[in-house]
Amino acid sequence: MDESFAPPAAFQAQARVSGIAAYQKLYAEALAHPEAFWGDLARRQLDWLQPFTRVLDWDSPHAQWFADGKINACYNCVDRHLAGWRRNKAAILWEGENFEQRILTYQELHRKVAKFANALKKLGYRAGDRAIIYLPMIPEAAIAMLACARIGLIHSVVFAGFSAEALKTRIDDLEATLVITADAGRRRGREILLKRNVDAALADCPGVRRCIVYQHLGAGIEMKPERDLWWNDLMFGSSEVCPAEALPSEHPLYVLYTSGTTGKPKGVVHTTAGYLLQSQMSMQWVFDLREEDIYWCTADIGWVTGHSYIIYGPLAAGATTLMYEGAPDWPEPDRFWRIIEKYRVNLFYTSPTAIRSFIRQGDSWPQKHDLSSLRLLGSVGEPINPAAWKWYHETIGGGRCPIVDTWWQTETGSILIAPLPGAVAAKPGSATLPLPGIVPDVVDAAGQPVPAGQQGFLILRQPWPSMFRTLYRDDERFRENYWARFPGAYFTGDAARRDADGYYWVLGRVDDVINVSGHRLSTMEVESAMVRHPAVAEAAAVGRPHELKGQALVVFATVKGHVQRSPELAEELRGWVGQEIGGFARPDEIRLVEALPKTRSGKIMRRLLRELVTSARVAGDTTTLEDYAVILQLSQQGKEEEELLQKSE
Ligand code: WTA
Repeated sequence: MDESFAPPAAFQAQARVSGIAAYQKLYAEALAHPEAFWGDLARRQLDWLQPFTRVLDWDSPHAQWFADGKINACYNCVDRHLAGWRRNKAAILWEGENFEQRILTYQELHRKVAKFANALKKLGYRAGDRAIIYLPMIPEAAIAMLACARIGLIHSVVFAGFSAEALKTRIDDLEATLVITADAGRRRGREILLKRNVDAALADCPGVRRCIVYQHLGAGIEMKPERDLWWNDLMFGSSEVCPAEALPSEHPLYVLYTSGTTGKPKGVVHTTAGYLLQSQMSMQWVFDLREEDIYWCTADIGWVTGHSYIIYGPLAAGATTLMYEGAPDWPEPDRFWRIIEKYRVNLFYTSPTAIRSFIRQGDSWPQKHDLSSLRLLGSVGEPINPAAWKWYHETIGGGRCPIVDTWWQTETGSILIAPLPGAVAAKPGSATLPLPGIVPDVVDAAGQPVPAGQQGFLILRQPWPSMFRTLYRDDERFRENYWARFPGAYFTGDAARRDADGYYWVLGRVDDVINVSGHRLSTMEVESAMVRHPAVAEAAAVGRPHELKGQALVVFATVKGHVQRSPELAEELRGWVGQEIGGFARPDEIRLVEALPKTRSGKIMRRLLRELVTSARVAGDTTTLEDYAVILQLSQQGKEEEELLQKSE
């Protein structure tokens, strides 16, 4: 039997959804009458600029939610909170790496957003135009996103850790005409020169008319006359009066690029009303948000978690959301605990990778701080191993805070599987039960549900409001990637099992996506970067289990005829991939080999390589392998592997 933790009695007594029966009732209601369920919530929870009459138009795989209504995401995140006392509530608490502090109330946030939106209008930008946001974790990122939403510009936030090359790919795919950036951002005491990357990217992007630059650190940068404008200059001359535009529910709110199974990133398209509804509802259902809470999600706004759970979800719910610009271990490993103590954080949402690194640093760091304000803890991005779960529960939560292990994806827009903390007992390592309105299943390769306890593919059988609507300018890939494998259902790309209690245990990706520290990397993207290097002939990237990061990235590569294999070259290539994609994609290990194992038809057998780095031994089916000697040779490279081979001989 898996260990189970019932909701703490004190928590349950005050919870929005209290007790398992209340959860079951909600779930049953949504299952029986999904349109009535979502329609009712949408009317009560969102402010409409024109009411809708239709809830769902479902022409699989295309959904439209609340299609004939008009709404504005920025209005729902900001304006509607100004009517009462909430206008003086802190919307955003910001802390910089050097302990700088800024607090924006809802009213002040409104003022800044309206001014910035007006400035964009004055520059000629209109609903439907695309803007790239390439900013550090500062309030201006939120202001830029909300200002775009206010006038219907479709934004695409590019994580500030991405390289100029990755930035350019996204600008091109999106046909963006505007870039919003800063001079630089800060990380572990170093300045990351964002504007310099933008300049490199824009050298070859004639479609971008304007680049707006926020002066954050005062780093020396070049401004290109005609194209580049200072944020502050624009704000200075801009009016505060800027009504939120009434946009159709299905107006795209943003495109967020994520890794897929090819080298080209996928532009996941989210639209307005459904996305907003579900990200806001999960603030209530999963985080059990209360008016007075201080809520902190440690993600970066460059990832979907930052979109849904730093900006749109919390602000739509009228929460106080904390943003921290720097590294978790800066200047010392207790920075997160310091922040929790300083701001009296109540709800804390982070990743298993972060938790595992805290464990490694030792209990003395959290023990130095008063963490008694914490009421609930969350985890996202990858499976959390039970040992890390328990440490989080005891050492950070003092044994009194429920933990919500939240399963979702860039594509799903909001949390879909997670315990309602006052209702559902947790089992460490399981994301537990689906939220109301979500109908998952675990199936075999033929699409048949597998019995309890068995592993299969995780699918979703019913559309949900915050689902992505398509891939930007690639509807065919949308259909093929997600909807073709199990007709009528959405394929998540994850493996899972469901236990006898109906709990879901998500096991990880089954496609060519590697999850490194909760960041999705496509093997193809890494391989394409490798072969762009003049020394490399072929490359194959695989994941290997890693104690801290969940998975580590290992790349096998062959070199061109005239090139010598050497440890120096391997090191150079690690740096190269880091430059081509971004530092977070730097491989943990590069193995330069004589040949890669291939099938008779010439396909690289990644499965064998994966097995090799995972177990240092190759079993499984090798009948399609062209040259078994290649695998033996590869295995002989590592010491442990050699021993294993000898044993099996
Ligand atoms: C994985 C991040 C297990 C999963 C929100 C999914 C998880 C991918 C969990 C999406 C969890 C996310 N337990 N696995 N609680 N949360 N994943 O798009 O493999 O960056 O498909 O979205 O992360 O990653 P993405």
